[in-house]
Amino acid sequence: MTQCNCNKVKVVKEITAEDFAKIDEVIERYRGKPGSLIPVLRQAQEICGYLPDQVQRRIAQGLGLPPSQVYGVVTFYSFFTMVPRGRHTVRVCLGTACYVKGTRKNLGKIQQELGVEVGDTTEDLKYTLETVRCLGACGLAPAIVIDSDTHGLVGSGKVMDILKAYD
Ligand code: FES
Repeated sequence: MTQCNCNKVKVVKEITAEDFAKIDEVIERYRGKPGSLIPVLRQAQEICGYLPDQVQRRIAQGLGLPPSQVYGVVTFYSFFTMVPRGRHTVRVCLGTACYVKGTRKNLGKIQQELGVEVGDTTEDLKYTLETVRCLGACGLAPAIVIDSDTHGLVGSGKVMDILKAYD
């Protein structure tokens, strides 16, 4: 963990020698095969949780591609990330129906308890907090989604119990 110059805590997950060894194995499996870049990046992200510069360079070198090509693909597809993310993504709906039913209280409770702002990841890399405009579950307002699970009729008294069920 380091401090950036905006005074916010920046979560840094170190890439270990073991991570690099696993990435090298993936590269070896795909080397010389057409269309290998995206599957290699996907698997590298599964291994490391994100795709920092040094991982991108390792992949570029291993597959014999220009680093700019790897960077271009990583930044083009939204499912690739260059910053560490939590094991669980928490999305709080801020759509009208949820807003009326008190979703702001849920969001405030989560921010306070986890000590993060929207878009941030907790220091233990457990949760990444995001907001969405509507989850398509307005009848269940206020709603939150954790990973792919939708939770409806969430009161601020139980929102943290729901989060803590995810380990
Ligand atoms: S406004 Fe929240 S689910 Fe639609």
